Amino acid sequence: MDQQALKKEAGEKAVTFVQSGMVVGLGHGSTAIFAVRKIAELLQSGELRDIVGIPCSKHVEADATALGIPLSSLNNHPIIDITIDGADEVDPQFNVIKGGGGALLREKIVAQATKREIIVVDQTKLSDSLGTNWRVPIEVTPFGWKSQAAYLESIGGDPKMRLDTGDEPFYTDQGNLILDTAFGPIADVYTLAAKLNARAGIVEHGLFLDLVKDVIVARENGIEHHTKIN
Ligand code: A5P
Repeated sequence: MDQQALKKEAGEKAVTFVQSGMVVGLGHGSTAIFAVRKIAELLQSGELRDIVGIPCSKHVEADATALGIPLSSLNNHPIIDITIDGADEVDPQFNVIKGGGGALLREKIVAQATKREIIVVDQTKLSDSLGTNWRVPIEVTPFGWKSQAAYLESIGGDPKMRLDTGDEPFYTDQGNLILDTAFGPIADVYTLAAKLNARAGIVEHGLFLDLVKDVIVARENGIEHHTKIN
């Protein structure tokens, strides 16, 4: 099975947990989009009713609008029942790196407002230690960004400015920059997150710790669903 098919399986499986009347966070990325499409399909067929979607990015907002999913804002619905989102790297504790698509700030705001955050991935995203396979996306203000790059180096990171396809800096939905920062396998994700949280000019980072309730993994030999107990 190719990777696209695995992403589709994972995204669609997560939609089986969505019920009529729910407020649903709509994640950004090439896996979460399959959940968005499935929700649209079930709304159209009448199998789901009264869903309100809260998009995690301008991009998914445009996609969901085009698919006819009724949308609202987090300000109108500050508590979300379920969010279905992708991830770049997932560890055995359900901590994840997100932000490969650049939407980490809105995704984290939505995740922390969500009762049940479901992460959908294919098998390539699993890892024993976050940072092994993926740089940590770090959103910084354009003002003084080089000073954040120097700080990231001082704590053992190797930051690289994210570029768009035309080799210009990539700007987030908030007009900020992203420094994709390699740390290698991160021994203590909580200590690193605390350092990043404490630094002015770092708006947000892609370490999502203790936010995920379910992980759905599509593997060649079938779907796995893991739920965090506590
Ligand atoms: C968006 O900013 C990201 O957090 C995505 O959810 C993450 O990069 C996973 O994306 P894919 O499902 O496209 O790999």
